[in-house]
Amino acid sequence: MGHHPVEDSNRSDNNSICAVLDQRLSRRQILRGSATAATMVAGASLVACGGDSDSDSTGGAGGNNGPTIAPEALGFSAVPHSLEDRVVVPDGYQASVLIAKGDPLSLGLAAFKNDGTDVDYDQRSGDEHDAMAYFGLSDSGMPAASSSSRGILCINHENLEDATLHQNGPTAAASNGGARPKTEVDREIQAHGVACVEVIKEGNQWRYVQGSPFNRRITAATELTMTGPVAGSELVKTRLSPAGMTRFGTLNNCGHGETPWHTYISGEENWFSYFRRDDDSAMRTSADNTLLARYGLTPGGQGFSYREWDTVAAGDLYARFNITVSGASATDDFRNEANQHGFAIEVDPYRPTEKAKVRTVFGRFAHEGVWFAPAVAGKPVVAYMGDDARNEYIYKFVSAENWDEADENLGLSAGDKYLTEGTLYVASFNADGAGEWKALKFGQNGLDASNPIYPFASEADVLVGARLAADHVGATKMDRPEWSAINPLNGEIYIALTNNRTSNRPVDDLDSANPRAYEDVVGGANGSDGNANGHIIRWRETGGQHDALTFDWDIFLFGAESGADSASVNLSGLTADNDFSSPDGIFIDMRGLMWIQTDDGAYTDTVNNQMLVAIPGEVGDGGMQQVTSSVGADEKTVTTFVGKSASEVDLRRFLVGVPGCEITGIALTPDAKSIFVNIQHPGEGGSAASFNVDKSSWPNSSGDAQALGDGSSRPRSATIVITREDGGEIAL
Ligand code: FEO
Ligand code: CA
Ligand code: CA
Ligand code: CA
Repeated sequence: MGHHPVEDSNRSDNNSICAVLDQRLSRRQILRGSATAATMVAGASLVACGGDSDSDSTGGAGGNNGPTIAPEALGFSAVPHSLEDRVVVPDGYQASVLIAKGDPLSLGLAAFKNDGTDVDYDQRSGDEHDAMAYFGLSDSGMPAASSSSRGILCINHENLEDATLHQNGPTAAASNGGARPKTEVDREIQAHGVACVEVIKEGNQWRYVQGSPFNRRITAATELTMTGPVAGSELVKTRLSPAGMTRFGTLNNCGHGETPWHTYISGEENWFSYFRRDDDSAMRTSADNTLLARYGLTPGGQGFSYREWDTVAAGDLYARFNITVSGASATDDFRNEANQHGFAIEVDPYRPTEKAKVRTVFGRFAHEGVWFAPAVAGKPVVAYMGDDARNEYIYKFVSAENWDEADENLGLSAGDKYLTEGTLYVASFNADGAGEWKALKFGQNGLDASNPIYPFASEADVLVGARLAADHVGATKMDRPEWSAINPLNGEIYIALTNNRTSNRPVDDLDSANPRAYEDVVGGANGSDGNANGHIIRWRETGGQHDALTFDWDIFLFGAESGADSASVNLSGLTADNDFSSPDGIFIDMRGLMWIQTDDGAYTDTVNNQMLVAIPGEVGDGGMQQVTSSVGADEKTVTTFVGKSASEVDLRRFLVGVPGCEITGIALTPDAKSIFVNIQHPGEGGSAASFNVDKSSWPNSSGDAQALGDGSSRPRSATIVITREDGGEIAL
């Protein structure tokens, strides 16, 4: 968790659904009896997905899209718990460092010294590698989605390791005459954002290509184009963007997305926390104050990532980080700067000179990422999204335009077609195992100027204030929504709910979809009680149609320590070979194998953050369950729906990372023989005086990710690549 505290500004009375229910199941059984047509992988076939728990998927062309039937068993031995300063992968696998923080992307740059004096991060790998995606290139360097030996990795650089980035840590403005040193701030701005990097496989060994024309950095200062209903709105006009049509920089890039037209989406998560706001509430409208407060920007409340960038007197690219009202109008200051952030940007990896676009149709929140359902010709394009803060919501976007496969290679102009107009929905999980999507559309569901929460005057207002709109329609508060994953074999959707605390969700507010709270078994490692280990919820859209307005859900897996009580905490039956805590990154690959990555602080006294593989089953493969939670004197029993228990056949630990790191970011080559994974902020939580080396000095300079750190080098975030020694498919 380290420096990843989360914002907590949901003061709506939306109950996380009403609790228990005794009514039930008949409805679920009826639904499960009716087979649904689920959509298949991009460009592909339909496959009938059975309603009976024992009926496997049948039919489907397969071919390049891989099998249409889920594998029956995993083909590797589980990796045990580890606290070592090295990456551990199963026997028979190798893991190499591919791109580490500071590695030069352009030719002619100095080699990375890793002593805090390096500069030019706008031409180097950024810090804190997060989500990523792989885009294939042919041998001649042309776009080729099916290529498994050459490609472009697009990598998010979420944040900074303050202890290691500068020579002696960051210099506070107060100790430097009121202004941060410009060199430090430039380093910080440039180490954020997105990197696109060409990678190539030679033999069974990957390397990145320094100087490739596809290499590119988008930083916290890069100029971007605003698109969609918010572009040009009064809410986003600033002194640097008087027409509201451009924006500078992307902040806290966390989760990602891959569009059906082969572009990269980067989500903006804790962007709010970079801005300074002094008490200017008397100079703002009450609507404005409401909007800012709902996004964590209360007066005087600088966030946890506030880095005093605004103190550098070198022009508006720095000044904009102070959003305090100071001029005569919005285009005289930066009062609206924060309204421009919190969406997701679209990047075309194959056209590196094209400016990235801000896609405001996705709404504005702590945007973990944007995960697309497989596109179906003649149907809208649909994507799923989580707002990663405590008690925030799950959203989906449905495009106005229907998918036309002829657009598959049109890059950002396809994005303009599908991501300019559409409808944002928010999820409500009902206590009976069903759920509904509520439209956040101006003029519908009371989202208009007479709204009691916020006077919505346009579609732009609804999207900029998506949280307020969602409060109004009665969305379900969730235990911190992180990544989504869509099962290509049956179209079911998963979202990781990483954890929550009793201070944010008291026992009384537990509900069927967020049913669990307990005293932290480890005792204080994450300093709180509640749903300390998180869970993964999943649902099936009615009729298997991603634009449906209703769905059926259950809880796929509960994180837990294997030794925890099986009736109240370890509800999925985890063992030492597959127990985990705080799921964050999740992904279901083309073979139907699910990857689960952790960003945990509750079980890290026993095991460093890790990655597991699951064979995910389907909604309804378990049953109804009563869960009794007790914290202190508070107790509540909730009825929920839990997927079948995990076993060592269908859930195994595949990787353990190094001390202080989060495991995040995952991409497979189309042949499933290489897997890219990010080791984010190794050593975090170490001592600043030792540049975190007391906690980790990974990676070893040999490039072998499984080798111990050398004990003296500053730890570096990095992308690693894992292959099998015999060249076979990963995990089977
Ligand atoms: Fe950046 Fe929600 O993880
Ligand atoms: Ca992180
Ligand atoms: Ca995350
Ligand atoms: Ca997280």
